[in-house]
Amino acid sequence: AAAQGVAAGRVCLGEPQLWAAAAGSGCAVAVAHPNIALIKYWGKRDEEWVLPAADSLSLTLDVFPTTTGVRLAPQAAGDRVLLGGQEATGPAQARVADFLHLVRELAGRREPAVVDSRNTVPTGAGLASSASGFAALAVAAAAAYGLAADPAALSRLARRGSGSACRSLFGGFAQWHAALDAGGGAAADRVSLAEPVPAAAGLEVALVIVVVNAGPKAVSSRAAMRRTVATSPLYRPWVASSVQDLTQMRAALAAGDLNAVGEITERNALGMHATMLAARPAVRYLAPASLTALDAVLALRERGLAAYATMDAGPNVKVLCAAGQASQVAAALREAVPQASVVVARPGPGARLVAGDGR
Ligand code: DP6
Repeated sequence: AAAQGVAAGRVCLGEPQLWAAAAGSGCAVAVAHPNIALIKYWGKRDEEWVLPAADSLSLTLDVFPTTTGVRLAPQAAGDRVLLGGQEATGPAQARVADFLHLVRELAGRREPAVVDSRNTVPTGAGLASSASGFAALAVAAAAAYGLAADPAALSRLARRGSGSACRSLFGGFAQWHAALDAGGGAAADRVSLAEPVPAAAGLEVALVIVVVNAGPKAVSSRAAMRRTVATSPLYRPWVASSVQDLTQMRAALAAGDLNAVGEITERNALGMHATMLAARPAVRYLAPASLTALDAVLALRERGLAAYATMDAGPNVKVLCAAGQASQVAAALREAVPQASVVVARPGPGARLVAGDGR
């Protein structure tokens, strides 16, 4: 079942009877996997509606899923949020409660809910992506409150929780449309969503994740991108180059050209980090071990392997390579960065409902 929803960008939101059961019972459970952007989302043009400055394109993974249950609690005073079994308070609770409020508005409902969300990311790995979290929450909350099971609408909804989450609705490659032509606000909200992207059948990739032992947690991606947009002189030029990267990436995926996909991926990510390094004050996520991993990726290429790096708002390095060479790439990275743990990921499925009756 895990492979469902990956093939040819097929959308899989669970069995229709699960949605029927959930709508009646006020209780639903969903699973979503993280996605890693090959063309990055970095910067919003509209904070309130979570509208990005440019399109982005990602690969949904088959590792580190988030499972989230939502149960309506008509008698409760407010929303309760459990993250990894612990009661969330403060901003973490508020962000989920704000999202539930949005779902209630759309559904015309008022009942508070209990949210129970669990990540499978190793603790402290710095990979607890908000993408899988809000994708799973969007699917479970929509089902529990009786909203329609339309993947496009759920992608839009997940976007409001965390931008990158809209791409985790879909398996494999997905593109999030910035919908610049629609302007901003509610008009753009209707059309800014992710869609599956077709890739050549022969393009079989893996993403080798180098989990670097991080130091103190850096700035959140939300705050970091806000500062970059406001202060970095390199931001606009990067957005302009990212638009070209996306066009070339679509062509490279369609042609199944792994080297081109990798080159575009790596330059787009390094360019994004350059915008942050030029922000005032600078935002720097790269740690010494990240640079060691980047050197190891270069060395792999010198040995003739197609291996290309990407990095997000943290020190971990993700290496795109051919599926058939993933174990070789992983072994080289383990040797180069002995203190890191290295995980091989492959394309994974889109978010889906797994139970409609609270099981
Ligand atoms: C570097 O989606 O976490 O991972 O919309 O403010 O919640 P918010 O930001 P978020 O940013 C992700 C940034 C990134 C690049 C990407 O995933 O495209």
